[in-house]
Amino acid sequence: MALERVTRRTFIGWWMASILTSLTVAGIAPILVFLWPAPPKGQKKGPLTIALDTPLNQINDGQAVKFNAPTSPNSAFIMADGGGDNAPGDLAFGGFVVKNQGKVDVLAINCSHLGCSVALNANANSFDCPCHGSRFHLDGTVLHGPAQFPLSHLSWKHGQDAKTIEVDGIILGF
Ligand code: FES
Repeated sequence: MALERVTRRTFIGWWMASILTSLTVAGIAPILVFLWPAPPKGQKKGPLTIALDTPLNQINDGQAVKFNAPTSPNSAFIMADGGGDNAPGDLAFGGFVVKNQGKVDVLAINCSHLGCSVALNANANSFDCPCHGSRFHLDGTVLHGPAQFPLSHLSWKHGQDAKTIEVDGIILGF
């Protein structure tokens, strides 16, 4: 079988086409990386297993148990909802499991005013913010401003035993 002869004109055509393709890819690639950046190395979303100081079945009505995000590796919880300074998808580094009228809620620690960490006021059954005086009921709704929006919820499910819960979060890996 005779080999087809590649003419000089065909060869130059291929050569030009390959140069043009390379230039196009080199020009578009940075734009694509900008639009769809790869997640930073080591980051992974998923449930974080949290060991509670008080097992779920021993938390009394009106009681709240604080917990922190794991630090090894460094992790954070992902807010399920939000308002004010908090928004769905924002990160929280702590939270409370609250039993309120038989219902268990898991709330992010971040005040909805400007994001300070709220603290449990066990005497008043409220979450109080040390920064500007906002107060929240145990179900996270506003008791006293300047905050205008409730505390954010964290999505969670029961863990392997009463002492653990699984909370939606992200391993930050740094
Ligand atoms: S940050 Fe909580 S009241 Fe301002």
